[in-house]
Amino acid sequence: MTTTAPTAARPIEHSGTFALGDLSVHRLGYGAMQITGPGVWGPPKDPAEAVRVLRRAVELGVNLIDTADSYGPEVSEGLIRQALHPYPAGLVIATKAGLTRTGPGKWHPVGRPEYLRQQCEMSLRRLGLDRIDLFQLHRIDPKVPSDEQFGLLRDLQQEGKVRHVGLSEVNVTEIEAARRVVPVVTVQNRYNLTDRQSESVLEFCQANGIGFIPWFPIASGGLARPGAVVDRVARADGATPAQVALAWLLRQSPVMLPIPGTSSVTHLEENCAAATVRLTDEQVEELSHAGACTE
Ligand SMILES: NC(=O)c1ccc[n+]([C@@H]2O[C@H](COP(=O)([O-])OP(=O)(O)OC[C@H]3O[C@@H](n4cnc5c(N)ncnc54)[C@H](OP(=O)(O)O)[C@@H]3O)[C@@H](O)[C@H]2O)c1
Repeated sequence: MTTTAPTAARPIEHSGTFALGDLSVHRLGYGAMQITGPGVWGPPKDPAEAVRVLRRAVELGVNLIDTADSYGPEVSEGLIRQALHPYPAGLVIATKAGLTRTGPGKWHPVGRPEYLRQQCEMSLRRLGLDRIDLFQLHRIDPKVPSDEQFGLLRDLQQEGKVRHVGLSEVNVTEIEAARRVVPVVTVQNRYNLTDRQSESVLEFCQANGIGFIPWFPIASGGLARPGAVVDRVARADGATPAQVALAWLLRQSPVMLPIPGTSSVTHLEENCAAATVRLTDEQVEELSHAGACTE
């Protein structure tokens, strides 16, 4: 493994770019779920640090920030506006709707079109935007016909409230059903070194030029234990386990857009520097094999 220009002021630029429709983003982004209270409920322990994290992310080159109406709820979007509005040119804020909250750690899908529309309007207001660049359906609500949910996304797009549409936690059949109603530019599913259940979805996304946003991206479970493969690869060239997990993800596919989340500037800087970590083919293979064996 070698690292390229590890002191670069904007390490994120080493992650390459991806076209979200007519928008271009760096492939390594930032997930803003961790800048809330425990259980993704209420304000964060240190709101000033949350603001510093968001501003530092942009300084380091991040131009894809993932959030949701339900993070807090409202807290994450509010902090993004407080820290970054008026937004720098080229910054893509990807928010979501479709999960309502009843307490810490409690999430419930609600996909009624009037609810999704309300949440879009509220996100526009909270973020201080005329149009949301990427609006993701957080979950398909099984209690509501899915075409009604996709149709609402299409309506919001046609009305100019939403630029592009994404989905979250979906299978290939669901993506195909949505694409019959509205163009889909991203899919956001849980995926990391030791959780590849969405491999077929990733393959579908790659084949169709859809961005794949893996959430929980830095997890590597027991593979980061002292002496295990992630730890060994990290030590070999002065990287950290989190950086190895992110560098491995970036090598999996040109449509891979990881959004590591953190509430600390120190972890943010570490995660962004992962874009400069270059794993050898042998290291990628060893990591892939070990990760698959732990599933
Ligand atoms: N679509 C969905 O259903 C869905 C679900 C969950 C998340 N997401 C999105 O995906 C993003 C990322 O997922 P995630 O936040 O669950 O997982 P993650 O980014 O893989 O990990 C976040 C956790 O790791 C810690 N961490 C971050 N950087 C670290 C580092 N360098 N070293 C050690 N620990 C580190 C964080 O704590 P510290 O704060 O202490 O750094 C936090 O506890 C979220 O922010 C959110 O935007 C989407």
